[in-house]
Amino acid sequence: MKRLTTILVALIISAGLILTFTSLSLAAELSNDDCIKCHTQPPADIEAQGGAHKTAVTCMECHEGHPPTVRENIPTCDSCHSGKSHYELENCLSCHNNPHMPLVLQLAKDITGACLTCHQEQGTLLQENKSFHTTMACTACHQEHAQIPLCVSCHEPHGETMVQADCAQCHQAHKPLVVVYNDATPSEGCGSCHDEALSQLTASTTKHHALSCAACHKEKHKMVPACQDCHGVPHSPGIMKKFPTCGECHSTAHNLNL
Ligand code: HEC
Ligand code: HEC
Ligand code: HEC
Ligand code: HEC
Ligand code: HEC
Ligand code: HEC
Ligand code: HEC
Ligand code: HEC
Ligand code: HEC
Ligand code: HEC
Ligand code: HEC
Ligand code: HEC
Repeated sequence: MKRLTTILVALIISAGLILTFTSLSLAAELSNDDCIKCHTQPPADIEAQGGAHKTAVTCMECHEGHPPTVRENIPTCDSCHSGKSHYELENCLSCHNNPHMPLVLQLAKDITGACLTCHQEQGTLLQENKSFHTTMACTACHQEHAQIPLCVSCHEPHGETMVQADCAQCHQAHKPLVVVYNDATPSEGCGSCHDEALSQLTASTTKHHALSCAACHKEKHKMVPACQDCHGVPHSPGIMKKFPTCGECHSTAHNLNL
């Protein structure tokens, strides 16, 4: 009797369990709210830095189905991203290494081609103005996306008083040998390589003293002006015939003789 009761109770319990399981599996529609019950890291990552993968898609839009019913529920990127050259790259996850934090990037030190899928202009500048920088990978300088490197982390300034902020007066990173500048460029920068010109001009008591190097040697390095560009020919043809160059009486522009 006691044994029969035990069996009966056991039967009733297992029937109940079976019923519960059946109703559970019938209702076993997974929802986005369920995932976090078993998976902690992906929801935490998405919450912290999911970006558009948090706001524009849900877990289940990427992960269709679930093991064991669906064995492969990892999406490929191209099921949603297509139509731009950037999306033709190999191995998306090599840079976007956590799809739950899509804009937290892992960039290798030797990347160039992938950058050009969005920044053609910089690639063109580097190719059209050959310099040592042309031979370097983009990420040799831009180690993180959108980070701007300091020139002085790789180069010594030309003079002791010169600092990082000065470099841009004369150089652009993607065409560093094309030295261009404007009239406001201070003469001290030029003087760090042309000390004689700077010291002569500084010592001069003529009106040229007030002019900067860049005001005369306009815009481009190694441009040399003629006196006549600014002065015309202020003397009579007779004098000029006898003394054809201005320098015969006035010496040089830096060390003007009145
Ligand atoms: C009851 C716990 C549970 C819930 C709820 C759950 N999962 Fe899982 N999930 C697992 C287990 C266990 C595995 C491992 C299964 C296997 O490898 O066969 C898994 C595997 C996965 C995988 C495959 C991982 C791989 O390496 O292939 C993905 C993706 C996944 N789950 C996403 C989700 C998403 C999205 C949700 C919410 C819609 C979710 N899971 C809800 C337990 C759960
Ligand atoms: C934009 C698509 C996308 C969204 C949205 C997304 N995932 Fe994933 N998930 C992936 C991809 C791709 C992988 C494979 C990553 C890999 O191979 O390194 C993955 C891997 C996983 C894995 C297995 C590896 C691991 O990191 O544990 C789980 C579990 C998972 N996702 C759960 C979720 C959950 C939960 C959500 C929602 C909170 C979610 N995913 C949202 C694309 C997505
Ligand atoms: C189920 C669709 C889906 C899948 C699969 C998917 N994405 Fe997305 N992803 C989106 C949508 C929608 C957006 C927002 C609109 C857009 O930028 O195209 C987005 C945006 C992004 C962004 C920009 C994020 C931001 O916050 O601006 C990156 C980066 C990205 N996805 C990378 C990936 C990578 C890498 C994969 C593969 C691992 C992937 N996606 C798979 C749907 C998806
Ligand atoms: C070599 C590194 C690298 C690879 C490989 C890579 N990406 Fe990107 N991706 C980036 C960088 C850098 C950005 C710009 C991020 C930003 O704007 O903050 C980006 C931005 C994105 C964006 C957001 C901007 C947009 O164009 O909508 C999406 C989406 C994206 N990638 C998808 C992909 C997909 C899909 C793949 C694979 C086919 C892929 N990426 C491969 C580096 C990479
Ligand atoms: C990550 C390191 C790095 C950064 C950052 C960097 N350079 Fe360079 N640069 C180099 C290397 C390496 C060379 C070749 C050896 C040398 O001349 O020092 C070079 C060469 C040059 C040259 C001579 C080019 C040639 O072909 O002879 C100039 C000019 C130059 N850099 C200017 C700059 C300026 C200006 C900046 C900032 C806008 C800058 N560099 C940022 C590494 C760097
Ligand atoms: C030698 C270091 C160096 C290399 C190599 C380099 N950059 Fe730059 N990049 C810089 C510096 C420094 C700036 C800041 C502006 C400047 O000084 O001209 C910059 C600015 C930028 C900007 C901001 C917009 C602009 O043009 O000022 C983008 C985008 C950029 N670089 C992309 C690239 C890409 C893509 C590559 C590879 C094809 C690349 N860079 C190679 C140093 C470098
Ligand atoms: C999918 C398109 C995409 C790819 C790929 C991409 N970028 Fe960008 N990049 C952008 C956008 C959009 C911006 C402007 C918004 C911002 O600052 O994030 C930007 C900004 C930058 C800036 C800063 C511009 C400034 O004015 O300060 C630099 C530097 C840069 N990218 C370098 C790179 C390098 C190096 C690579 C290759 C590793 C790369 N980018 C790949 C889209 C991209
Ligand atoms: C006033 C203009 C000017 C400024 C400011 C300037 N440069 Fe230069 N730089 C030049 C000129 C001109 C040359 C090229 C000389 C030649 O033709 O040989 C040059 C050449 C270089 C070179 C090539 C190697 C060398 O020394 O000849 C590097 C590297 C360089 N500059 C880095 C820098 C850095 C870094 C800064 C900021 C700290 C900077 N420059 C500021 C004008 C300037
Ligand atoms: C990094 C050093 C450096 C800097 C900075 C520099 N130069 Fe030069 N400059 C040179 C070199 C090297 C030469 C070529 C050698 C020579 O002819 O003496 C030169 C030549 C010149 C010449 C002579 C061209 C010719 O045909 O004889 C002029 C003019 C000149 N520079 C003006 C300037 C001006 C103006 C500045 C500031 C905006 C400047 N330089 C900054 C290094 C520099
Ligand atoms: C008033 C205009 C003027 C100013 C200011 C000026 N220059 Fe000159 N520079 C000239 C002229 C003109 C020449 C051609 C030689 C001559 O006739 O004096 C020249 C020649 C040069 C030369 C090549 C010949 C030589 O003397 O080595 C260099 C280098 C030079 N200047 C650098 C500089 C520098 C650096 C500064 C600023 C410290 C500067 N110049 C300021 C007008 C000017
Ligand atoms: C880029 C223009 C420019 C160039 C090139 C130039 N000068 Fe001048 N020069 C000036 C200016 C500006 C003054 C001041 C005019 C004033 O204030 O009346 C001046 C003044 C003078 C004066 C009068 C100085 C005084 O203190 O009264 C003489 C002489 C002179 N220049 C000769 C020359 C000679 C010679 C050359 C060539 C070697 C030359 N200049 C090249 C712009 C220039
Ligand atoms: C034979 C010597 C001689 C020659 C050659 C000469 N000058 Fe003069 N220049 C002078 C003398 C002397 C003065 C001062 C007296 C005067 O104002 O006429 C002067 C004055 C000037 C002044 C200042 C004018 C003023 O109003 O303050 C300028 C500018 C000038 N010269 C430019 C030039 C230029 C440019 C050349 C070459 C085309 C040149 N000179 C050739 C002797 C000369």
